[in-house]
Amino acid sequence: MTTGNLADATHNPVRPQSRHDPVRVALIGCGYISEIYLTNAPRWGNIEIVRVADIVPENARRRGEQFGIPAATVEDALADPEVEVVLNLTIPAAHASVALAAIRAGKSVYNEKPLAIDLEDGRRIVAEAQAAGVLAGCAPDTFLGAGLQTGRALLDSGAIGDPVGMTGFMLTPGHERWHPNPDFYYQPGGGPMLDMGPYYLTAMVNLLGPIARVSAMARASFPERTITSEPRAGERIPVQVNTHHAAVLQFASGPIATLVTSFDATPGDTPNLELYGSAGTMLLPDPNTFGGPVKVRGRGEREWEEMAVIRPCADNSRGLGLSDLAAALREGRAPRASADLALHVLEAMHAVETASREGRAVEIESRPGRPSPLPA
Ligand SMILES: NC(=O)c1ccc[n+]([C@@H]2O[C@H](COP(=O)([O-])OP(=O)(O)OC[C@H]3O[C@@H](n4cnc5c(N)ncnc54)[C@H](O)[C@@H]3O)[C@@H](O)[C@H]2O)c1
Repeated sequence: MTTGNLADATHNPVRPQSRHDPVRVALIGCGYISEIYLTNAPRWGNIEIVRVADIVPENARRRGEQFGIPAATVEDALADPEVEVVLNLTIPAAHASVALAAIRAGKSVYNEKPLAIDLEDGRRIVAEAQAAGVLAGCAPDTFLGAGLQTGRALLDSGAIGDPVGMTGFMLTPGHERWHPNPDFYYQPGGGPMLDMGPYYLTAMVNLLGPIARVSAMARASFPERTITSEPRAGERIPVQVNTHHAAVLQFASGPIATLVTSFDATPGDTPNLELYGSAGTMLLPDPNTFGGPVKVRGRGEREWEEMAVIRPCADNSRGLGLSDLAAALREGRAPRASADLALHVLEAMHAVETASREGRAVEIESRPGRPSPLPA
């Protein structure tokens, strides 16, 4: 299944576009993360955000005024025939309903992560986009940034030989230390795997290809959390999800990775992301960032060599994946940050919980290919 089939495209009903026309985008969900998408939009040169919308009209009005873009209701944004792509920056619990409404209105869609909370909803997004002949994409797009694309180019050129395995460590003592309303991180749909796993798993799949099998154990180390951020400092919130996961992932191509995601642990000295090969080890950047550094240590050597970052977009380039989807729309190809890839990651994250709950290894059904690297 691919969300790259444009044979029956139903978008573009208003005026025919040439390959060079910017793609017209409606942004839905004018919260925290919308600011960087709107700030970055002009730099891509191939998208134009023509509407901003939110379930809370005041949020849309405020962002619209800030960036000089008309605010609309969600319904009007979806019904607007000028709009070709919906940029879905709503909360995770609304990702599926907004994406499906966009697809049913004949629009392509690009979601923030995760693709959906429920696996079935994720499958529905991919299937309905395919059937409607529109594109579906999803964050994260950090794997398209300078650091992880440099790592991909080094791996593909044989810099560390054949891949053997990876490790990923995402450790934090909890978002209630800084987020003003951290409740959702500890409710169903939250937890460190669904929140941060997409960055780590997408980076791993971009390097090693699809995951075939998952084993895991998980726990909720604390039954409640005490908020220390303002304005609710001192308030206690219940924990309804696992907050510490240790997963083992077997990739279809053979390598084995370990991934730990935790809201319960203060980071120690473990690296965010390391890739092990038959001829050496590669230290990769935090996959929640776009830049470097990338370091290589040859087999048996003690010193790291810092590698030249040979790909663009080292700064905060959120929206790069949306721009690639817009290019894909004009070029008639699949986007790199695709919903197929995000669905595979969602399936792996659910498998972590299933494996832990049922004490068994879980097979992963979906098998997306590695996204093609960005051209140099
Ligand atoms: N905050 C971050 O640092 C960050 C970083 C990367 C990705 N993300 C992702 O971005 C998304 C948004 O995060 P955020 O921090 O901006 O959240 P937020 O709560 O600040 O903003 C979400 C916005 O969506 C609106 N909304 C909710 N349901 C809606 C619906 N059904 N229709 C229309 N609008 C709706 C809300 O009113 C709000 O304005 C999430 O999926 C999150 O995982 C956030």
